[in-house]
Amino acid sequence: MVERIEEIEAEAKAAIDAAGSASDLEEARVRYLGRKAELTGILRGIADLPPDQRGPVGSTGNKVRKALESLIESKVDGLKNAELEKSLAEDRIDVTLPGSPARAVGHIHPITRTRRMIEDVMIGLGYQVMEGPEVEHDYYNFTALNHPEGHPARMLQDTFYVEDDEHVEEVLLRTHTSPMQVRAMEVNRPPLFMIVPGKTYRRDSDATHSPMFHQVEGLAVGEGITLADLKGTLLAMLREIFGPDRQIRMRPHFFPFTEPSVEFDVSCFRCGGSGALEDGSRCGLCKGIGWIELGGAGMVDPNVFGFVAEAGYDPDSVTGFAFGFGIERIAMLRHGVGDLRLFFDNDVRMLEQFS
Ligand code: DAH
Repeated sequence: MVERIEEIEAEAKAAIDAAGSASDLEEARVRYLGRKAELTGILRGIADLPPDQRGPVGSTGNKVRKALESLIESKVDGLKNAELEKSLAEDRIDVTLPGSPARAVGHIHPITRTRRMIEDVMIGLGYQVMEGPEVEHDYYNFTALNHPEGHPARMLQDTFYVEDDEHVEEVLLRTHTSPMQVRAMEVNRPPLFMIVPGKTYRRDSDATHSPMFHQVEGLAVGEGITLADLKGTLLAMLREIFGPDRQIRMRPHFFPFTEPSVEFDVSCFRCGGSGALEDGSRCGLCKGIGWIELGGAGMVDPNVFGFVAEAGYDPDSVTGFAFGFGIERIAMLRHGVGDLRLFFDNDVRMLEQFS
């Protein structure tokens, strides 16, 4: 009988060893230590054995049962740990992955995309990008740009004033990005090549004007800069934006802070500048003119340099050109958007079309 118990022990140890999972182990426990197990039966039947066998069978049987129990117990712990490790590894989730179904990722607003494109082009031409305050002093917005107080050109750019009892009509939302010409020159000695993209404000609202809109200002100052440089710069910029075949033209105009002043147009990229489409009909984009008006420009007025003479801008030794245009207008032309207000309604059905 004792021999049989030792056989059971060997068999049970082998089974416990081979168990690869908690359920295998439970099966072995039931088979070798359960109520119907052979060893359990032997121990239960000790009283029926001849007296000389009771002692050895009882002690061997109990010893084996205890050994098997503790073997199972330690193996259970090991298996549980291994299974936990395994499920931790297998069920690991990467919370940074997109959900299921993946959520659509938003994209950059068409005005921002257009601004960045213009910045890229101008950085390529050696310009630095600067930003300036949207809440501006009357001095920078008008006075230092050669609009003396009471100058009628101020009326064209009626804006929103920020008032308190002391500063009535001295602080305003800038009507253009041009004030940064003066601010930039105050703190940078010539030569200076910079652009200023940013928000501007006017008392205007219709399909092509909004009270808040974006402009890009450009300023180049150094020795010997001429109107020809302005033309070449605008041409290089507009060819990058509207295509390599574009031409530009400049028409005489007036701005207080440039002399001479021009407005500049780009040749129409839909009809190629002819004003007519292939079927002979009138081009709708340029309205048959062949040119699309884009912005204002000119040679920096010596009076403007006068406001920054201390920073090294002596009108006898430096000249410069400046230009300014609207970002919305460029985006509307490039994307065929007819109403500027659509850019600011923030209807995703509209914005999604420009990813
Ligand atoms: N600031 C002008 C406007 O908003 C545009 C402009 C015209 C900018 C001529 C310039 C310039 O730099 O030289 O209407």
